[in-house]
Amino acid sequence: VLLNDGNRIPQLGYGVFQIPPEETEKAVVAAIRAGYRLIDTAQGYGNEEGVGAAIRSSGVDPAELFITTKLTSYAHGRDKALRAFDQSIQRLQVEQLDLFLIHWPLPRLDLYVETWQALMELQQQGRVRSIGVSNFTERHLNRIVSETGVVPSINQVELHPEFPQAPLREFAAKRGIAVEAWGPIGQGGRLLQNPELVALAGEMNRTPAQLVLRWHLQLGTIPIPKTTRPARMIENLDVFSFELDASAMDRIAELDVGERLGPDPEVFELPA
Ligand SMILES: NC(=O)c1ccc[n+]([C@@H]2O[C@H](COP(=O)([O-])OP(=O)(O)OC[C@H]3O[C@@H](n4cnc5c(N)ncnc54)[C@H](OP(=O)(O)O)[C@@H]3O)[C@@H](O)[C@H]2O)c1
Repeated sequence: VLLNDGNRIPQLGYGVFQIPPEETEKAVVAAIRAGYRLIDTAQGYGNEEGVGAAIRSSGVDPAELFITTKLTSYAHGRDKALRAFDQSIQRLQVEQLDLFLIHWPLPRLDLYVETWQALMELQQQGRVRSIGVSNFTERHLNRIVSETGVVPSINQVELHPEFPQAPLREFAAKRGIAVEAWGPIGQGGRLLQNPELVALAGEMNRTPAQLVLRWHLQLGTIPIPKTTRPARMIENLDVFSFELDASAMDRIAELDVGERLGPDPEVFELPA
């Protein structure tokens, strides 16, 4: 996917949320060997060092990888954000990061504009190639753009067939912001057991997860599914050799329940 800053990001990635630090290197090496090139971590996941070790030990040229991390909610504000970035770079053992995101807007703290300016500084210095945000609503996006003039290249949000975020996707498309999908397969919960989806998957000789990931690709979102199981890594990546026709896309659209699995960004604040 071509980003608004001229850089490119793979359209399907591998997320490492909730992978314990001591298991992360092994999982990420397996994912890279399975073919993933986009790896999504965060300061808050506590496993950046494992991602860094995997970058070194995977046998793939690090220049071929696209590494994303996210600023912890504890480091909003210019100076803290810059320091936190330095620490990530050390843990990840990279000289230049591919993508740095503000993890949550934290509107009550009200430091996300200043924090966004810190990311702009890092990009100007060439320390990160692309900058973006996560869990930003239209309101937060409008505010950083109007106050800084710089449009994020990515907004990473919860997005799956049960919560497809149509209005936010439409807004992002108008503004040239690429949408990355977290929880892309509904965090492995009830979505994948939905009888309609299971039936459609049976008809198409694919798994429910593959249908959902293919749905993302056809919507133009960038899904970053997580799994620690190598067989599922391969399954989740094997979505480039079939297509969903309009009727299959419509059947998946029926799964919308309008409910998030995760927190509402307008009210999500710093964990105690
Ligand atoms: N920006 C944010 O605030 C935010 C929030 C949440 C997540 N994220 C990012 O998005 C990534 C993905 O989201 P997520 O991890 O929350 O949820 P997800 O990728 O939608 O779902 C992961 C769950 O699905 C299971 N699973 C994976 N592939 C499967 C398959 N083919 N069939 C059946 N079950 C399968 C996994 O279990 P096994 O591991 O046992 O296979 C795991 O329990 C994260 O890892 C993280 O990088 C970002």
